Order: sequence, then C-alpha cells, then structure tokens
Amino acid sequence: MATRHPLTELAVGRVRLAPSVLAADFCCLGEEIRRVEAGGAEVLHLDIMDGHFVPNLSIGPPVVSSMRSRTTLPFDVHLMLTDPERYIDAFLEAGADHITLHVESHGDLGAMLDRVHAAGASAGLTLRPGTPVESLREYLERVDLILVMTVEPGFGGQSFMTNQLGKIRQIREWIDRSGRAVHLEVDGGINRETAPVARAAGCEMLVAGNSVFRAAEGVAAALANLRA
Ligand code: DX5
Ligand code: ZN
Repeated sequence: MATRHPLTELAVGRVRLAPSVLAADFCCLGEEIRRVEAGGAEVLHLDIMDGHFVPNLSIGPPVVSSMRSRTTLPFDVHLMLTDPERYIDAFLEAGADHITLHVESHGDLGAMLDRVHAAGASAGLTLRPGTPVESLREYLERVDLILVMTVEPGFGGQSFMTNQLGKIRQIREWIDRSGRAVHLEVDGGINRETAPVARAAGCEMLVAGNSVFRAAEGVAAALANLRA
C-alpha cells in the first residue's frame, strides 16, 4: 500500500477544498482527478453509500483502489453505511487516508475510530441534519475531523441548509475550547455563495461536488472562487 496521508498532516486554520467525486464523470475518473488536482484541490472527498443508510448506491473499495493508483491526494472517505464495521478494513486497504463515520450508524463507534487510527489513517464523525449536535460531544477528544452535513445525505446537487449553521458554530466553539487540532468540514450545497457563509460559521474544509465538477467556468476557476 502507498504511504498514507492522514488529514492530520494538513494544518488546521486554512481553507481546504475537497471536491466530491460523486459529481465527477465516472467514465473517466483518472482525468477528473487530474482536473481537480491541477486546479488546487488538497483533498478528495469520496462518498460511499450502501442503499440502506441512504437511498442511493455509489462506489466500493475496487473503485477507490483504482483511484489510489492515480493520485497522492489524501482520500477523505465519507461512509454512509448502516454497518460500517464490515467495510472499514476494505476501505483502509483500498487506500483511504481518512474515514468519517456517521454517529447514526450501527456498531461501536469508539472501537471503529480506534481501528482507523491503528491503521495510520485519521478519523472523523458526522451527523445527519436532523441529529442533535450533542450526539458528537463524547467523541470530541477522539476525532481529527468533524463533518457537518448541510444536506440530507444520499445525493449531490441539493441546496445548502442554513438551519445547520448553529450546529457549525457550536462545534467550532467546542473545538476552539478543546485546543486540539480538529478539522471542521462542511458537506452539501457548497458553492461560491454558500462557501463564505459556512466559513464565517467556522468551517475550514469545504466539500463541493456539483459546483466544482460541473462548473460552467471550469474546475480551476470554480476552485479559485470557492477559496476567494
Ligand atoms: C451527499 C454527499 C456529498 C455530495 C455533495 O450525501 O455526502 O458529498 O456529493 O454534493 P454537492 O456539493 O453537489 O451538494
Ligand atoms: Zn460526502
């Protein structure tokens, strides 16, 4: 396996762009990865769906493993799975650098976070828009990243939910108070209008699918606009 690049290698406090491959053209993933890499993306966000935790299917370990041979960008793997315990090892083996789990998934979250760390990857937690922010609190000391979903997970191309901003501000406060280096990431409906709003609330890692891969102005310009 290639050297792992956990997201802890990226200092916190700077804007990081993580294009979501879900919006890419799956017929030519190698070329799509090259486009965002050339445009200045620092992380690649991979959405994994099981058709059960969310009503959609996406990609599995073989696709992740093929992508691994094309880039050294860190793979930020977002597991939308009912039973992630069964698949964590396969994604780590396929080349995940980071794994984010949903608090609503089944299984022992603490044990899964430990397993990810033991493999040399970084670990994060996320929650559905309707899940109270308090559900994360007991794990704050054990994660390297918290992801706030600003759409209902399952599909790209939805609108940013501004009612999640309070959650972002609360988590930002917890992270700052802890003094730990934890990334605060946002996922769902991020574009040049909503990116500044999410940043002002405290997010510094921005996932963006449609607004990057399907940008009329081209990928590089879209990434520059998100960063501006
Ligand atoms: C949704 C995924 C997102 C999605 C974002 O379940 O977690 O990563 O790809 O897509 P956009 O940026 O188009 O809302
Ligand atoms: Zn995602």
